[in-house]
Amino acid sequence: MQIHASIPDTRAALRNSGRIVFVPTMGNLHDGHISLMRQAHAHGDTVVASIFVNRLQFGPHEDFDKYPRTFAADCDKLRAAGVAHLFAPTEADLYPEPQQYLVDPPDIQNLLEGEFRPGHFRGVATVVLKLFNIVQPQVAILGKKDYQQLMILRNMTRQLALPVEIVGGETVRADDGLALSSRNAYLTPAERAEAPRLHRVLEGIRDAIRGGDREFARLERDAADELDRNGWKTDYVAVRRQADLQAPSGGDEALVVLGASRLGQPRLIDNVEI
Ligand code: PAF
Repeated sequence: MQIHASIPDTRAALRNSGRIVFVPTMGNLHDGHISLMRQAHAHGDTVVASIFVNRLQFGPHEDFDKYPRTFAADCDKLRAAGVAHLFAPTEADLYPEPQQYLVDPPDIQNLLEGEFRPGHFRGVATVVLKLFNIVQPQVAILGKKDYQQLMILRNMTRQLALPVEIVGGETVRADDGLALSSRNAYLTPAERAEAPRLHRVLEGIRDAIRGGDREFARLERDAADELDRNGWKTDYVAVRRQADLQAPSGGDEALVVLGASRLGQPRLIDNVEI
């Protein structure tokens, strides 16, 4: 695997690489990321990953400084997954001057995650557009665990006519249902044992809806109450339309149940499509 830090080196190394499939990450790679890398091979000729902990998408009181950085172990995993190139810039490589041109997504950035992490999706969209401009992939693979992020980046790509196909990768879970996430590393053993409840309550809503229950507000409230009774601090549990993450309007539109809740220190997110 070739590792590049500078933008010009990356561009030069990727010239004549055929169809490039790109998987952007912030490192601290787990099986969820590696599954995206493995899927990537089916979509093109050259798999390129990036590792960059993007300060722009962290709020002032979030975990940017503490975000786990495990570069050597990440490189071993990427090599084993057949990744050909890794773009791993420093902040000075990617933001040599303050990043004043920003991608400001529309209102969808203020829903759900955006309500609790103002400015987060502006930071995500800005760095991903920049990474796309550097790597120039034909395909990019993004995990469905970050459902709103996937939707915002898909919409950005379409509206800005970027020549990139966005592929959503399925969430990888531990045997007990917990979605794999770098932030699971912050859980104590007792919290780790409790953590699968988030997925269970989302599945409970899915099953109730499949069984004909349409009282979404009550289902959301009961799920949040169950989490909070068990030591969580819930930001939201929400039933939304898959198409635009707005509240359901009736009819048989495809839905998704999303949740975000803090268990001890880490804030966990998950979702279940219906
Ligand atoms: O999902 C992530 O890891 C990040 O938000 C991304 C897409 C790599 C942008 O920094």
